[in-house]
Amino acid sequence: MSGADTADVVISADRPDGEELLDLYTSVAWDAYTRDPETLTAAIDGSSYVVTARLDGVLLGLARVISDSASICYLQDVLVRPTARRQGIGRRLVLAALQPYIGVRQKVLLTDDDPGQRAFYESLGYAEVRDVGRTSLRAFVRFDPFDPFEQHPCAPVAPSGGENPFGAAARGPARLCRSCPGIPSSLCHET
Ligand SMILES: CC(C)(COP(=O)(O)OP(=O)(O)OC[C@H]1O[C@@H](n2cnc3c(N)ncnc32)[C@H](O)[C@@H]1OP(=O)(O)O)[C@@H](O)C(=O)NCCC(=O)NCCS
Repeated sequence: MSGADTADVVISADRPDGEELLDLYTSVAWDAYTRDPETLTAAIDGSSYVVTARLDGVLLGLARVISDSASICYLQDVLVRPTARRQGIGRRLVLAALQPYIGVRQKVLLTDDDPGQRAFYESLGYAEVRDVGRTSLRAFVRFDPFDPFEQHPCAPVAPSGGENPFGAAARGPARLCRSCPGIPSSLCHET
């Protein structure tokens, strides 16, 4: 993409369809999303705010936010096609994605340990927790299995109607199994 084209890139609030999403996420090789297109579409649909970058209608990049619009603004997924990078599109996407959340104090994100990403986010005012200068601050993350039916040891059986038993249990009180992370104890044979 030439510098002249960059001026024509349109950044707007927009939720691309499943095919476009898959094509964009494939271009950055984000397998965790592309191997499960339904979850990818649900993630975009369920986001608080989504912005895209397009040139002549072609999707070049996307950024999305999860937020309560009051106390927390989580920036999730900022991606630009490899052919369109280092032309300010990522920066424009982040600024547009955060625009509705100017009044929200706490802005967080998770990303890979990569010098380019560090430079990118630092150029946008983000700092790593260890650099913030508040020694009491810690960041925690938990990654659960993609498919709890396959991977947790207590392996509950789905009811014959096909309804996900985790979905029903998730609406009840949050008592979790002690040996299976994230699994409601009511569904676990281990407790
Ligand atoms: C990270 C990413 C979104 C940046 O998009 P981009 O459009 O290339 O970024 P910009 O052109 O707006 O860069 C803005 C500034 O960030 C910094 N920056 C961006 N990419 C950088 C890199 N690879 N190395 C060093 N600095 C970088 C620079 O300071 C840059 O300004 P400059 O070009 O004037 O020096 C893009 O590289 C990408 O899609 N990567 C793959 C997906 C990803 O890892 N996303 C982040 C985790 S969610």
